[in-house]
Amino acid sequence: MRGETCVAIATFFSFVSVILLIFAHVSQINTSAVPRKLHLVQVNVTNYGVALNAATGVTSPGLYTDNASVPLGDELGLRNIYSWGLYGYCAYLNDTAGQCGNQTFANEFRPMDVLLSDTPEAYSIQTKTLVPNATAFKNSSYLAGLTKPAFWLVFVATLCAGGALLVGIVKNKWTFIVSSFLSIVGTIFLLIGASIYTAAIDKAKTVNQAVVRGSVPLGIEVTAGSGLWLIWAAFVTLLLSTAPYTISCWAFLKR
Ligand SMILES: *[C@@H]1O[C@H](CO)[C@@H](O)[C@H](O)[C@H]1NC(C)=O
Ligand SMILES: *[C@@H]1O[C@H](CO)[C@@H](O)[C@H](O)[C@H]1NC(C)=O
Ligand SMILES: *[C@@H]1O[C@H](CO)[C@@H](O)[C@H](O)[C@H]1NC(C)=O
Repeated sequence: MRGETCVAIATFFSFVSVILLIFAHVSQINTSAVPRKLHLVQVNVTNYGVALNAATGVTSPGLYTDNASVPLGDELGLRNIYSWGLYGYCAYLNDTAGQCGNQTFANEFRPMDVLLSDTPEAYSIQTKTLVPNATAFKNSSYLAGLTKPAFWLVFVATLCAGGALLVGIVKNKWTFIVSSFLSIVGTIFLLIGASIYTAAIDKAKTVNQAVVRGSVPLGIEVTAGSGLWLIWAAFVTLLLSTAPYTISCWAFLKR
């Protein structure tokens, strides 16, 4: 295969990888149409109130807020759905009404802390008791310790993918050496980053099986989302670009 064809194939795959990563990065950065629909992980607490009522034997007025604009993190009431992106989370009452928390670099996935920050003080102790200690969901520092490095791996991998794409457009042996190197490093980082995120979410998912009073589901449901699949797909496409970048690098070196 001629070097030019290889470059074109490599450029195509790294371009697709960059596009997929851009979508992963915008997930949950705000509540507009596209970011709102993309999330790495979602925690649905719609049915938690049922479990709390079952555990206490009384109703729990004010557990949820019905005003989507009351501030997050001030113990002013739970929202039904919490969705995380790479930079932070957003909380929703329903499909349309919601708001996002602060967006920060190297955001950590601390679902229990986030839920407790919205749980009115009156229900705080019961909530801590009802979520079993054995679930990783409750272990915020454990989940944070996984998701912080995962963020950096995905972030650096994004820079690598973008760098490989841009540098690879200039046709000479040095640019192909650099593109080949960046695509390989990016691929490895995406593999490790996506694996860590997947493992952290799987660990947190153990809370889905939790029950109160022997049989009532706890009503806290963790699911992985499209943002995670985007990172995995970006890994595959960047992997597919590594061979043609490397081949074009050799093809040009031989000239
Ligand atoms: C959240 O859970 C409730 C109760 O199980 C369900 O009806 C609802 O569809 C879920 N929402 C999402 C966005 O998954
Ligand atoms: C909802 O909360 C916001 C912010 O606290 C407040 O300004 C607004 O008046 C509330 N709306 C209703 C209908 O209570
Ligand atoms: C979502 O919740 C808001 C605030 O309670 C409400 O005004 C709106 O009608 C709800 N939308 C849907 C689709 O249920």
